[in-house]
Amino acid sequence: MTTTPYSILITGANRGLGLALVKHMLASNPRPHHVIATSRSLGGEGSKELEELAAKEPRLSVLQLNVDNYATFPTLAKEVDGIVKENGLNVLVNNAGIHIRRGLEDVTVDDMTQTFATNTIGPLMLTQSFLPLLKRAASHASDKPLGWQRAVVINMTSILGSISSNNSGGLYPYRSSKAALNAITKSLSVDLVKDGIITCSVHPGWAQTDMGGPNAPVTIEESVQGMLKLFAKLDENSNGGFFLYDGSTINW
Ligand SMILES: NC(=O)c1ccc[n+]([C@@H]2O[C@H](COP(=O)([O-])OP(=O)(O)OC[C@H]3O[C@@H](n4cnc5c(N)ncnc54)[C@H](OP(=O)(O)O)[C@@H]3O)[C@@H](O)[C@H]2O)c1
Repeated sequence: MTTTPYSILITGANRGLGLALVKHMLASNPRPHHVIATSRSLGGEGSKELEELAAKEPRLSVLQLNVDNYATFPTLAKEVDGIVKENGLNVLVNNAGIHIRRGLEDVTVDDMTQTFATNTIGPLMLTQSFLPLLKRAASHASDKPLGWQRAVVINMTSILGSISSNNSGGLYPYRSSKAALNAITKSLSVDLVKDGIITCSVHPGWAQTDMGGPNAPVTIEESVQGMLKLFAKLDENSNGGFFLYDGSTINW
């Protein structure tokens, strides 16, 4: 990684890929001035590692965020404003997500509603709340080319949200929530590029997290190293793209 953003915010950063992204960003050289990690809850076992890291690392801020709790987003945006100030927020990684595995026989309204709330509506409304800070970052760094040194929204999606790759069916809540997130990525990419903000969808690979399980073929390390190389290379040609963690393109 030869470039780095001034600030990056990652949701769902208390475990899995989100936590690994935080650790890698802090260990990178150069590294951001502000790594902002959000966690659904604080003060318990689930966020202990993240909070211990923050106690040792002045560049890491940990904030509480349940991505289903849309009414709290404006307050969170104010807190982030107080951290990043005139530089704005360069990178928003909508990483928090859930995977309720249901097929046609057992899917329920609640499964669909809950999954869309977290995987689809949360990222959209959070992006809306952070727009002033993303725009500020893009204009503050207007001497830089489009990319993560200016302003980028990354939606953590899944290949399971690719309609053209779906040959095995099922997984109604997850597939449809990520397909809808991909549609949001595309609209954001059209709407925001004039403001110097680019947007893309990224599939981290089937990775060995709690969600991916221990038999997943990709380690957290491989996934995160690949994604960070990809993030650093994002440019105007990446706007509205759907990428695998290794940088290759995925069909919608
Ligand atoms: N691992 C894979 O194979 C894979 C493949 C494709 C896509 N992805 C995507 O990659 C992203 C990260 O996945 P992962 O593998 O790291 O999953 P994970 O290990 O299950 O972690 C999920 C993270 O999301 C958080 N989260 C869930 N619902 C939330 C909510 N309502 N508010 C705030 N945080 C919430 C969790 O917080 P708590 O600890 O509070 O639950 C946790 O930090 C997800 O969007 C997932 O869909 C993963």
